[in-house]
Amino acid sequence: MSTGRDMQNSRYTGLIDRYRNILPLAEDSRAVSLCEGDTPLVLCHNIELVNRKGIKLYLKYEGLNPTGSFKDRGMTVAVTQAVHEGSRAILCASTGNTSASAAAYAARAGIKAFVLIPEGNIAMGKLAQAMMHGAIILQIRGNFDDGMRLVKEVAETAPVDIVNSINPYRLQGQKTSAYEIVEALGCAPDFHCIPVGNAGNISAYWMGYSELAADVHNQGKQVVTASGQTSRPKMLGYQAAGAAPFIAGEPIEKPETVATAIRIGHPQSWDLAQGAVKESNGWFNAFTDEEILATQKLLTTHEGIFCEPASATSVTGALHDIERGNVPEGSTVVCTLTGHGLKDPDIAIRQSSTELMNIDAELDSVRRAILENL
Ligand code: F0G
Repeated sequence: MSTGRDMQNSRYTGLIDRYRNILPLAEDSRAVSLCEGDTPLVLCHNIELVNRKGIKLYLKYEGLNPTGSFKDRGMTVAVTQAVHEGSRAILCASTGNTSASAAAYAARAGIKAFVLIPEGNIAMGKLAQAMMHGAIILQIRGNFDDGMRLVKEVAETAPVDIVNSINPYRLQGQKTSAYEIVEALGCAPDFHCIPVGNAGNISAYWMGYSELAADVHNQGKQVVTASGQTSRPKMLGYQAAGAAPFIAGEPIEKPETVATAIRIGHPQSWDLAQGAVKESNGWFNAFTDEEILATQKLLTTHEGIFCEPASATSVTGALHDIERGNVPEGSTVVCTLTGHGLKDPDIAIRQSSTELMNIDAELDSVRRAILENL
C-alpha cells in the first residue's frame, strides 16, 4: 500500500493516493483531492466514567477533514470517478455537510455542483461553505427526505451525477476510515460507535472492517479486535430520538432534532445498515437532544474537542452503554466524530452557559476579572 505521501517531500497527498489499491477507480483516473483523510484518533483522558471502567475510548476526529466532515472521504472518490467518466455536474440532497463537500470538490474539479437543502434547517457554517464554493443552491420547502426523492427523480433525465451516499463510490471512499483506525491501533476496536442519519457511513465502516477481516485485498493484514474475540467490531448505531427510524423499525415522516445533520426519516442505506448491526451483533439506540448537547459540551470542556451535535450522538451512546455495562470494562471503543463544531455556531452559542464579561478596557478591570475567577 502506498503511504499517500509525495516521496520527494513526504507531503500527505490524500486518501486516493494512499488507498488507490483498495478503491474501484481506473488506474488512469486523476484524483480530485483536497488531501482529505489521515485524521487523528484521539484517546480520551478526562472522562471519569471511561477511566473508572478501564475503557480505551478513541475519537476519530473527522471534523478535521478539509471541509470539516467525513463527507470528504466519499466525495474525493465520487468526484474523481464522475470527472473520469466525463461528468460536468454533480447533484446532491443534503442536511448540509454533503453540500459543503460537493461544492468544494466540484470547485476543485472545475465542474458544477447543484445542492438541494431543506429551507431553514441547515447549519450556518455549512450554508456558508456551499455558497462560498459556488454551488448552485436550491432551498426546498421540504426536508432532506423530500430532497433525496427529488434528486433521484431528476437525475433520471438531467445530465448530472448524484453524489449522495447512494453513489457507491461514496461508501468506497468512506470505508478508508476503518482502514486508518486499524492501522493506528494495530487491531480493530471491540466496538465502533457512530451517528446514523442516511445510514451510509455505518455501512461504509462495516465494509472497511469486513474487508480487513477477510483480507479481500490480500495485503496479509487480516485483523482481529483488541480483545481478540472476533475479527470485526460490534457496530453501534446511534440516532436522535426525534429522528430514529431504526428504533421505530420503519421510516418516519416528520423527523425533528437539534442535530440537523441527522434529521432524516427515510435512510437510503437501510438494508446495509441493518446488515452491519445484525452481522456484528451490535445494536441501535436513540438519545434526546438534551443528552446529545450535554455530550457535545462534555467533549469541549473535558477533552478540548469541538464536534457538531450530530457527531456527539456517537459518544452519547458510547457513554450510555459503558455506564450500563453493555460495553464491558476494559474494551477498546472508537467513536466517529463526523463533523466539526464550527459547522453550527448558532447551536453552540445558544447552548453554552459561558457568560461574556463586559469590562472597561483598563488594566485594573482585567486584573480584577482574572483574580476573581482563578
Ligand atoms: N454526522 C454528520 C455531521 C452528518 O453530516 C451526517 C450526514 C451524519 C452524521 C450521518 O451520516 O447519513 O452516513 O448516516 N449528513 C448528510 C448530509 C445526510 O447531507 O450532509 P449518514
